[in-house]
Amino acid sequence: MPQEFRLILKHTDEPGYTPDIECYLHHGGYETLKKALAIQPRDLSDGKKMSAQEQIREDVKISGLRGRGGAGFSCGLKWSFVDRRSGKPIYLICNADESEPGTFKDRQIIHKDPHQLIEGMIISCFANDVHLAYIYIRGEMPEGAKLLNKALAEARAKNFLGKNILGSGYDLEIHVHRGAGAYICGEETGLIESLEGKRAYPRIKPPYFPAVLGLYMCPTIVNNVETLCAVKHIVAMGAVEYARLGTPNNTGTRIVSLSGHVKRPGYFEIEVGKVTIGQLINDPAFGGGLRDGRKLKAVIPGGSSAKVFKAGEKFKLKRKGPDGKDVEQEVDMLDLPYDFDSLIAAGSMSGSSAIIVMDDSTDIVEALANIAEFYAHESCGQCTPCREGSLWMSKALHRLTHGEGRKQDADYLVKIADNIPGGRTICAFGEACSWPVQSFVGKFKDEFVAKGVADEERRAKEGKGAVPMHGMKIAACPQH
Ligand SMILES: Cc1cc2nc3c(=O)[nH]c(=O)nc-3n(C[C@H](O)[C@H](O)[C@H](O)COP(=O)(O)O)c2cc1C
Ligand code: SF4
Repeated sequence: MPQEFRLILKHTDEPGYTPDIECYLHHGGYETLKKALAIQPRDLSDGKKMSAQEQIREDVKISGLRGRGGAGFSCGLKWSFVDRRSGKPIYLICNADESEPGTFKDRQIIHKDPHQLIEGMIISCFANDVHLAYIYIRGEMPEGAKLLNKALAEARAKNFLGKNILGSGYDLEIHVHRGAGAYICGEETGLIESLEGKRAYPRIKPPYFPAVLGLYMCPTIVNNVETLCAVKHIVAMGAVEYARLGTPNNTGTRIVSLSGHVKRPGYFEIEVGKVTIGQLINDPAFGGGLRDGRKLKAVIPGGSSAKVFKAGEKFKLKRKGPDGKDVEQEVDMLDLPYDFDSLIAAGSMSGSSAIIVMDDSTDIVEALANIAEFYAHESCGQCTPCREGSLWMSKALHRLTHGEGRKQDADYLVKIADNIPGGRTICAFGEACSWPVQSFVGKFKDEFVAKGVADEERRAKEGKGAVPMHGMKIAACPQH
């Protein structure tokens, strides 16, 4: 029977566990920081020495840790791109914007165990020669910001932060910055602009790779809350031990946010790839199954941007056979291991590790209309394909869900969605707003066409003409 594996959330829901520093210290808190600061330079075979900082960075690489914010990029590799020769200060930003619909994992850490994040950040900052760091927290999480500020004050009072931390000679300050209340503030370069006091317009890459030209045009590391917590555990247990958790290339643990039509929605920490999507939905240790009498219709596996899976969908995945060679196997959607690579191989992604479950009571057109409205509202507007395309898709879906659909709307939607991503936009929001439309319409086309046909027939009976392609009237929608 698959079970949760609680590493980061080990203590969070224990009775009596509080976000206070005394409680954290009582549970071994900040011991890993002491361990990190005490690491001695290691002699290398070529006579050179490897500093404590280099050893931690190397360990993060060996651990195989992949970012938990969305893209699943190697954390060690990201750190290795940091320009350490520029002579400029290096900054670290913890991305606590957590705005991908369906995702509610980072806030559990912030609300219930803020010192774990702070310890992970101090170790990560030490490893990267950072002396000033920020926690960029979603604007709509005021309680989280309050808790973090209190925790930072407690850490300062115990000299885990500030000048000459624990007599090590290392100085670090961390500030909390409250976000500007927009989804795009979570995109790392938009976040940096916002932190600099400007509108969160994402920057174009190249040249603005944060590792080289980030905050105040200085080298900057942006990592997710959960990623930075994992660093603490890598140093505590050792990189090799950490890499034993999970599966090859998908190491460690991940906190999954499970929502929608399951009996037990919530957050669950698992070893990456050791639990399948079906187990997360149906097992009593996780979602506990669908509501009584209902059948599964669809699953969004990685936050609202991820391409939807249809119940019963099958995928061809490469697996290791008994002789160690790769063999192709047909796998049902429910049997996909919940990891980075399997979901990419199945044409979607684990993204922010947020699973949204939809049973057969779901109106799939309504569901997509809801998602599309979100993206149309959140586009920052810099790129024409994203700004106009996200709005056109939302308008077409609004019509379809308000009795003004057309038979050809399904094709119209896919045509727009196909022309937004693929290097036409500054940031990955272009993909994020197109993937739901491409996959929902691609996999449930009959439902979109049926709605359009029904609307056209009804309008014809009422003696009303066809809804024009443009100039759609959307009087009921306050946003458009
Ligand atoms: C539109 C958009 C929104 C994003 N929102 C978030 C977010 O809320 N939290 C987050 O950690 N990463 C978010 N990301 C990913 C960040 O840009 C960045 O890759 C991440 O913070 C890196 O951290 P990691 O390497 O630890 O995953 C978003 C990306 C895009 C394109
Ligand atoms: S893709 Fe969209 S959100 Fe990203 S910069 Fe362009 S307009 Fe803004």
